[in-house]
Amino acid sequence: MNTNIEQSKKIILERWNGETPKLAVTLGSGLGDLVNSLENATVINYKELPGFPVPSVQGHGGEMHIGTLHDMPVIFLKGRVHLYEGYDRAENLKVMIRTLKAIGVETLFLTNAAGSFNPEIGPGSLVMINDHINFTGTSPLVGLNDDEWGPRFPSMDNCWNSDLQTMLQDAASGINYDLKKGVYLGCLGPAFETHAEIKMMRMLGADLVGMSTVSENIVARHCGMECVGVSSVTNLAAGMSDEVLSHDGTLYWAEKNAENLASLIKAFVKRYATEGGIKKAAA
Ligand code: HPA
Repeated sequence: MNTNIEQSKKIILERWNGETPKLAVTLGSGLGDLVNSLENATVINYKELPGFPVPSVQGHGGEMHIGTLHDMPVIFLKGRVHLYEGYDRAENLKVMIRTLKAIGVETLFLTNAAGSFNPEIGPGSLVMINDHINFTGTSPLVGLNDDEWGPRFPSMDNCWNSDLQTMLQDAASGINYDLKKGVYLGCLGPAFETHAEIKMMRMLGADLVGMSTVSENIVARHCGMECVGVSSVTNLAAGMSDEVLSHDGTLYWAEKNAENLASLIKAFVKRYATEGGIKKAAA
C-alpha cells in the first residue's frame, strides 16, 4: 500500500476509537457548520495526514471530522481540492479517497456548487446527481494503474448508485423537500464557461455544470466505493441571466442553500443508519 495511505490510515485509526464509519460526506462551500451536529467528534487537520490535499481556495477548509450522527459513525470532509489547483491534486485526491476505502468506508456522499441549465431550477435549488459527464479533459486515473485498488479500465455503470439515489429521494420526501435530479457536467475550470460552451453543454445533455466531483467519483468507483451526490445550484449557467459569474456569487448562494442541504444530508444519514448502509447486492 502507498505509504501515505498507510500512514494516514494509521493516524486516523489511532485518533478515532469508535466503530469504523461506512459513510463519508464531502462538505463544499457553506456547509462547514454541519460538523457541529456530530457527537464525540475527533478532528484531524488534513495537514496531519500525509498526502492529503491542503485546499487553497477561500471557503474550502481542510479537516476530517469523525463522529456520530443518529448513532452512526460518519466522516465529514470539510473542504476539498479541485484539479484546477495544480497537477499534484489528482494524487492528493487518490490518497484521500483510498485512505477512506482502506479504513472501511463504503459510501461517499459528494456535494458541490453548480450552475444550472434549467431556468426553472435556479439558485437556491438542490439537485441530486443521477449521472455525469467528465468534461475535465483528463482523469485522476491517468498514469500507471495501481492494481491494488482497482482495474485499469473500471466500469462507470451505476457510478451514482441507484439504491443510494432512492435512499436520498426518500430522505428528501421525508423532510418535504422537492429534490430535483440531473446530469452533472464537470469542467476543469478555473474560468467559468463561455456562453458558447454553455450552449454546447446543454446540447450534450447536461443539467448542471461545475468544477469538481467527477474526479472524486472516478477514484471512488475505481476502488469499489459507492457514490451519491447533490449539487447546490448557485447560479444559472453563464449567459442564461444578466449575472456576471464570480466566486463571491457562488459563496453567497452556497451559504444560502446550506441550511436545506444540511437538513437533507442529516435526513440521508438517518436513513442510511436505519437501513444499515448500502445493500450488499448493489455493491
Ligand atoms: N460553472 C462552473 N462551476 C460552477 C458554476 C458554474 O456556473 N457555479 C458554481 N460552480
